[in-house]
Amino acid sequence: MIIKPIKKIRQIIDIPGDKSISHRAIMLSSIAEGESKIFNFLKGNDPMNTIACFRQMGVSIDLNGDCVVVRGVGLRGLVRPADVLDVGNSGTTIRLMAGILAGQDFQSIVSGDESIKNRPMDRIIKPLRKMGANIKGIDRENFAPLKIHGGNIRPIKYKLPVASAQVKSAILLASLYAKDKTIIVEPKKSRDHTERMMNYMGADIWSRDRSITSEPLEKLYGKEIYIPGDISSAAFFLVLGTLVEDGEILINGVGLNPTRTGILDVLRQMGASIQIISPRVLNGEPMGDLLVKSSSLKGISIGGDMIPRLIDEVPIIAVAASLAEGKTTISNAEELKVKESNRISAMVNELKNIGADIEETHDGMIIHGKSEIRGGKIHSYKDHRIAMALTIAGLVSQEGVDIDDPNCVDISFPNFFHIINGVIKDES
Ligand code: S3P
Repeated sequence: MIIKPIKKIRQIIDIPGDKSISHRAIMLSSIAEGESKIFNFLKGNDPMNTIACFRQMGVSIDLNGDCVVVRGVGLRGLVRPADVLDVGNSGTTIRLMAGILAGQDFQSIVSGDESIKNRPMDRIIKPLRKMGANIKGIDRENFAPLKIHGGNIRPIKYKLPVASAQVKSAILLASLYAKDKTIIVEPKKSRDHTERMMNYMGADIWSRDRSITSEPLEKLYGKEIYIPGDISSAAFFLVLGTLVEDGEILINGVGLNPTRTGILDVLRQMGASIQIISPRVLNGEPMGDLLVKSSSLKGISIGGDMIPRLIDEVPIIAVAASLAEGKTTISNAEELKVKESNRISAMVNELKNIGADIEETHDGMIIHGKSEIRGGKIHSYKDHRIAMALTIAGLVSQEGVDIDDPNCVDISFPNFFHIINGVIKDES
């Protein structure tokens, strides 16, 4: 796909529902009692795989236009899947669903695509085994396919070795099957959508500093759930609106959970103009509209507690930093090596190829900003966030980019190129 550079944007954009929250809405509604109605659900490949897995376990899930109706079967109502549960490319599905499967008294096998089979699973296998689940991976017990036989879950007190919302959520979901309280301690605060949604559906989860306590409960209740727009998808347009010569973009209805808004803090610190309009809270999740206008950026240092708050936005931050004045350092970001691709080496290689001054470090990257980047041929590594970050780089480059395998954007943002085409058409 060829992306030509542009100079001017005036757009109002609706971005699709949050991926993390869409997964949780399907999983929690499936094991709640009664019907849930989910609005603004993300119909991307990843959450659609979550739907397919829960349908295989006997849950009735209907897609009626913009509304997904889930008829919950209760905590113990899932049935043994006849086949392998296939999560495709979705790390959130395999890790969170393993927490629920740990509580089921039947055997299941969970697998996915080549990327999933190369991502570490010992981080969930260890705590779920401690809770009493019989769970096995292959290749030193670290990789999918996973074979899980659950039941008889015990509460645990567990210190997470990595700041991972996926691992924390797997334990919280398994804790629904324990008779006493489970306590989790995080090294750094990660996204808390699971805690918020479980409480919205009747659970009692509370946190103090970095410790989270899940009290035992009888059942969850089906609810109406409105899913805010995904700030990780909005991030591409925040950077585009900032970097383009003459830009103004209004992005409607974006999730503004403070565990996810690192991108706003960092872009503002770099000099971006981003305004929050009409802040509101829906089913326990803050949201608002974002107005971004073009401005020049300067380099900064990003690391520590900030990293989990913008973990999925590092590829697009690298694009912003490539066109900022001065040096940007991203550190403590080694988790990026085990995402859908190795996002550190992917971004460093590709941005270097199109003319940026960027080098890889052991836990991140160093970028020396320039006033322009050339453009050229780039690879997506079949990773949705790499494809989208490099598309934005193409739009603000001198010559544009030619990107291979762009269809992977369907994982989290199926209408991404539709919006990009609108932006390009409006300019000409
Ligand atoms: C997610 C958590 C993050 C993030 C992923 C989605 C989630 O992963 O990178 O895209 O929905 O919980 P980790 O928590 O493993 O860092």
